[in-house]
Amino acid sequence: MSSDATAEPMPVIPPGFTPHPWRPISAARIDADGFIEVSWEDGRSFRAYGLWLAENSDGYGLDPVVRESTIDPIDLPVAGGPMTCEVDGDGALTITWGDRTGRIHPGWLRHVADGGHLPDAPLPRPVVWSTDAVTEPPTVDGTNVMTNENVLHEWLSTLMAFGLCRLINTPADPDFLGELMGRIGPIRDSNFGHVWDVRADPVPNSTANTGLGLGQHTDLPTREVPPGFQFLHCIRNEVSGGWSRMTDGLALVAELERNHAEAYEALTTLDWVFMNRAIDADHRWIGPMIDFGGPHQPLTIRAFYPVRTAPHMDEADIPRAYEAMRVFSTVARDPSLQLSYPFKPGDLVGFDNRRVLHGRDPFDSGGTRHLRGCYMDHDDVKSRLRVLARTHHREEAHT
Ligand SMILES: [Fe+2]
Repeated sequence: MSSDATAEPMPVIPPGFTPHPWRPISAARIDADGFIEVSWEDGRSFRAYGLWLAENSDGYGLDPVVRESTIDPIDLPVAGGPMTCEVDGDGALTITWGDRTGRIHPGWLRHVADGGHLPDAPLPRPVVWSTDAVTEPPTVDGTNVMTNENVLHEWLSTLMAFGLCRLINTPADPDFLGELMGRIGPIRDSNFGHVWDVRADPVPNSTANTGLGLGQHTDLPTREVPPGFQFLHCIRNEVSGGWSRMTDGLALVAELERNHAEAYEALTTLDWVFMNRAIDADHRWIGPMIDFGGPHQPLTIRAFYPVRTAPHMDEADIPRAYEAMRVFSTVARDPSLQLSYPFKPGDLVGFDNRRVLHGRDPFDSGGTRHLRGCYMDHDDVKSRLRVLARTHHREEAHT
């Protein structure tokens, strides 16, 4: 350790821009298989491959400005070649590979050892909800959401955890939704447009733009990757009816698996072709209604009957696929799972379009009901939240 206990450690550039507390390494040794085993004073140890450390070392692999690795694999040291290491007086790891030397930030290495680099690590864990505990949408006061990053962090964190969060007290201005999205990330465009209107049109272009009720559904299951989040902002609401309904797909899937095993099996394994029928668009995808995707992919519920085009399964499976869908819709509308609430001007509701099913009650056309809507991919909301979390965690550390 440094002889001057108050001295700052000699800076080491870590990979990336996430701040890491300094976690001095207490010992390091090279193993015969090319790994370096490091340990910390609290007893935690971690084996890191020498060539991976080369890529991530300050002074060798890392570019000091962009903080990314710059070594093409063909230029990496030869595995099993000369390598030495030592822990310096500040607790950082210094390694030499032949004539190259680099230092490893010990806090960054500890963060990897603890899994802090994994995609979901800085994000809140999902909270599975039903109307036993959640009787109205989780709500955040949005008065200062355009100027206060703590409000934005609270809203996006709650949205990530519950798959649903309502901002209240926002300006009922048709431009506000686009402005707020500008503080998060790029809007995902679609055949509906960049930011679109939901209201009863004299000549509607979709069921959404009528006063008809809409059963529980998810938008755009016709896409390989349906939009991750949907945002609806209420500008005017003078109608009776038209309440929103939300069902947590995680609770729905759990209920189906627990109490409707046959339907669950059919819904998770039998494929459907989804296809939109717009004049100027022809998106198609094929998959089950409850789509777990591949490893590391999130759940996608593909549930929108207007674009569910044809079964793609053995003929003998089609009747049970229909029965399973009836069970799905029945459970999705069960009052124990389905939340129902009105829209007020200034309410802005975000929800995870791949997890949470949404619908609405019919409404009369005696007044105006005007919502503005848009989509954003999971990637961009999560990225913004991770960046906000960097500051948030720093502030928490100082309080
Ligand atoms: Fe919808």
